[in-house]
Amino acid sequence: MGSIEISQKSGPEDMAYEQAIAAQRDIIDSVDDALVPLFQRRAEAAREIGRIKAAHGLPVFVGAREQEVLDRACAANSDASALSQEAVTTLMRGVMKTSRAVQQSWVDRDTRVITGFRPTSDLTIGNYLGAVRPSVELQNDPTIELYIFVADLHGLTDTSPRDIAEYRHAVVHDLIALGVNPERSTLYMQSDIEGPVVEIANRVGPYINVGALSNTPSLKEKMQDAVRKGITEGDEASFSNFALLGYPVLMAADIYAQRADRVPVGNDQDAHLELAREIARRFNRAHGSNTLVEPQNIALNALRILSLDGKGKMSKSNPSQAIILTDDPELAEQKIKKAVTASAGEWNAALESHFLVAEQTAQTEEDRARIAEIKQAHQAGQSVMGDFKKVWGKVNAHFLDEFQNAKALIDEADTISALRYGADRAERNALDTLNNMKEVMGF
Ligand code: TRP
Repeated sequence: MGSIEISQKSGPEDMAYEQAIAAQRDIIDSVDDALVPLFQRRAEAAREIGRIKAAHGLPVFVGAREQEVLDRACAANSDASALSQEAVTTLMRGVMKTSRAVQQSWVDRDTRVITGFRPTSDLTIGNYLGAVRPSVELQNDPTIELYIFVADLHGLTDTSPRDIAEYRHAVVHDLIALGVNPERSTLYMQSDIEGPVVEIANRVGPYINVGALSNTPSLKEKMQDAVRKGITEGDEASFSNFALLGYPVLMAADIYAQRADRVPVGNDQDAHLELAREIARRFNRAHGSNTLVEPQNIALNALRILSLDGKGKMSKSNPSQAIILTDDPELAEQKIKKAVTASAGEWNAALESHFLVAEQTAQTEEDRARIAEIKQAHQAGQSVMGDFKKVWGKVNAHFLDEFQNAKALIDEADTISALRYGADRAERNALDTLNNMKEVMGF
């Protein structure tokens, strides 16, 4: 009973998602037969963990945390021996293998999309509807292979290293709690593959001139900000430092590294994407190759959510006018109560945005119908804003509760193993790109 047969009928490449999940179950079941009763406890524990995670929409990912629980199940059995320990390792390897197959079934699609999130602070409902949810929709599109990463190095251009260090894993938790599935997407931390990405950025340096970089709107804005605030050299976070100048080059390198042909970006990032195309075009022309992909934008179903007072985009920099995902649901309800409205029959951009948030975060048909009814009554000139705020507050509290519960269930050890898994794949791609570049460059 030293080894356990793990049969895999089909190759991982052609295994569909459901099949791969079933294969995981089969492995656990086959182990049950082989190592009753000691192993049964582990198998039960593994199944239970999988069931709980699936019920919460979390990836059925075997992480370090599960290993720990399974080990505890084993330790609780006085028969625990070195042999069974080895068998458990074999089981885990098998499960990881099919777990990988699950991901394989979602990759190598026609279109490769990459998207990055800068870890600055907690997300708002505006970030969710404007950026995270549209990315999750891409993940679930069977023609798309999604790379999603936390751009911790990019964050350094305007946030202190200490804050980045504090937030970068929280962002991963947020993304997972909001539906990013590390089995379907390649989820990774940018700095985990810093070596090859920075090498790529360095090697494209000669193909972009400083003039073009200093014309980037985002850089100009930061510089104007710095002048306005009277900031001078020495304040690394706000001054026009090299990291800011090189921002688009590093971003281009992120994209080339994964050979992504599509990047979902908003207006604020258009110029960066244009630079990524220009650099790729020049590099390729210089080497008579098509080593680097010229990335195109991909349109998303992204909503632009306004601040609760209707003044500009919702932003966490004005917390009393933003619904922050980590807000206490009751506090959020208070904020909603104070949100700007309109008199009966009147319509404005703020109200449009408020209704959108309520409609899009409502979880039941009943709530959606109620919101539609109120909207109609308001437009017909009835005085129903109090009713609207009540429903919106309720819907919102429910949404925040669900998010916060899902987030609380995510274990740090799981995220770490998910990130390791993502970095593995992302790094392989990055090294491929780098090696291709070295080949055409001759060294
Ligand atoms: N610049 C992006 C932002 O601020 C983040 C980012 C960095 C990114 N590298 C990227 C996005 C590569 C897409 C692709 O939102």
